[in-house]
Amino acid sequence: MDGNGRWAKQRGLPRIAGHREGVESVRDCVEACGQLGVQYLTLYAFSTENWKRPQDEVSLLMRLLLTALRDETDRLHRNNVRLRTIGDSTALPGEVQAELHDAAQRTAENTGLTLTLALSYSGRWEITQAVRAIAREVQTGAIRPDEITEQCITRHLATADTPDPDLLIRTSGELRLSNFLLWQLAYTELYITPGYWPVFRRNDLYAAIDAYQNRERRFGMVSEQVQDPEKKEPAIKRILKSVAGP
Ligand code: IPE
Ligand code: MG
Repeated sequence: MDGNGRWAKQRGLPRIAGHREGVESVRDCVEACGQLGVQYLTLYAFSTENWKRPQDEVSLLMRLLLTALRDETDRLHRNNVRLRTIGDSTALPGEVQAELHDAAQRTAENTGLTLTLALSYSGRWEITQAVRAIAREVQTGAIRPDEITEQCITRHLATADTPDPDLLIRTSGELRLSNFLLWQLAYTELYITPGYWPVFRRNDLYAAIDAYQNRERRFGMVSEQVQDPEKKEPAIKRILKSVAGP
């Protein structure tokens, strides 16, 4: 979710106004994902590197996160959303940690969308944690070095029980990953859109999913190996039609 600050600057507003408007985009997209039957949505809300921002912006962001959690958890719960976080949560303010813990516990049994907030997260941090954990297991003799497979590494990541993403959406047009899910994105389709995050709403999400459904994912193979013999109408169009009626 990128471009909150620039969105605000464009309007002569303080950066926090962009973050606030960004929360509206989160609300809209989360609700739309739930309705579409998306099973997993992971939002890159605050990176390890974001701690280096000016102290007042970091404090305002943490406050906004806290109020958003307090205001939204009931609605998420009602919508059958399961909330989780990945990242170094110990770096977050105590109040935020407590709120996240409560929200995760309250929603743990929900069976709809799994919403993962990446907070104080970076891909390199996560891989480093995994390497340490695996090294400890080798040291204690729990596993042998030749048992360190791709699956073993995947299991030691913060996303252990979340499938690799099908689609990555980045707003504000920057052509980089910025340390997000580095291991998990190996075969993810990338969708980069020029609009800033605060203007990204459900219609933009539908456009991204539609673009995704028109891609051919070959996973290193050739086209003939992956072609679906009964090429169906892209599902997003079917779903939107059923929501809108004929
Ligand atoms: C994304 O917007 C939100 C966070 C990283 C917390 P930015 O704050 O990165 O906005 P820009 O990139 O400065 O416009
Ligand atoms: Mg940015």
